[in-house]
Amino acid sequence: MSADTLVENAWYVSGRSQEFPANQPKGRKIAGRPVLVWRTGEGRIAAFDDRCVHKRMPLSEGKVLADGVLECSYHGFCYDGSGNCVRIPSQLDRPIPTRAKLKPFPVVEQDGLVWVWAGEPQKIGEAAPPPTPEIAAADWETHMFDPVHVPANYALLIENLMDITHFYPLHDGNIGDIEQSKIPLELVEEKLNGVPTVKTIRRVQGYKHPPFMIEWWGFPVVDRWHTHHMLGPGLTRVELRCAPPGKLGIPGEERGYVIHHAHTPTDGANHVWRLWVSTPKVQMSASDPAKSCTRRIAEMFPAVMDQDRWALERQQRMFEYPDDGYHEVFLRSDQALIRCRKILEQMEKENRGRSPALPGRQAA
Ligand code: FES
Ligand SMILES: [Fe+2]
Repeated sequence: MSADTLVENAWYVSGRSQEFPANQPKGRKIAGRPVLVWRTGEGRIAAFDDRCVHKRMPLSEGKVLADGVLECSYHGFCYDGSGNCVRIPSQLDRPIPTRAKLKPFPVVEQDGLVWVWAGEPQKIGEAAPPPTPEIAAADWETHMFDPVHVPANYALLIENLMDITHFYPLHDGNIGDIEQSKIPLELVEEKLNGVPTVKTIRRVQGYKHPPFMIEWWGFPVVDRWHTHHMLGPGLTRVELRCAPPGKLGIPGEERGYVIHHAHTPTDGANHVWRLWVSTPKVQMSASDPAKSCTRRIAEMFPAVMDQDRWALERQQRMFEYPDDGYHEVFLRSDQALIRCRKILEQMEKENRGRSPALPGRQAA
């Protein structure tokens, strides 16, 4: 059941690089676990279990002292950037217990994002965070929206992103476009960085663009390439490229965007949604040439995100009722989300070693 999905052993975004200035440790809850993300004085990013080994105080409530150690705010245990306890103020005359060491979580900083593996390190295998090159590229302009807390299982967001038939009616009057729901899709499944992925491709020729797309790109009729790609439990990438008929693929003729959605589960019933929209810097909005396409899209999207959040929250609440013979009805367009669901289920089975005690988890 999708409202119960939680792949613990996966890479998830904990934030952007600039959210972690040196020596200002931050607390995050990722896949049901308390995570301390700390950029040390040397600029190295590290992640640990956020619990002080003494009495479980969250270390993210502590502060970094002048000598670069992180002091717990309760009784003052001090930790170095490798997670070793190096000082216990009330017991300076005794050796530090050998078990006074924080459990580290694997962490990777890539393309300006900080990824954390809040599971068991020995289960990483070949898995690596997916690339997000447009976010870091100098010739692309990227806007990141404020992270949104969604009180729903994160698989519901993945399914929402892989299913554009909800644009009408949920986004009617905004980015709604019933016609694009009718475009047939191709499904591609492949592994990327050791992680199974699902991609839908919608190719269309001589397609009449809705007014908001004409405002952005300026082409009333286009050939278009549109993909939605679940790159793993933590990220979905959407790419749209369009051009006047016959010109798709010709440099200088195409316009479009890349949108990255990071979906980081807090626990089984909540997640944080981060969204980046990127367009090539040379692209100015057709309706207002003084404004970049990224800026124009950024003005529209907070309302879109509100609509999705509104729906996901309500959808989640309906999982509180017993099924009582309820069965989902699937449409042709649901084939992508069915594959995503199966992959996440499979990853849970193979990887996660279910932890029934995790908070927010519903009875299986
Ligand atoms: S709980 Fe951290 S020092 Fe006591
Ligand atoms: Fe949506």
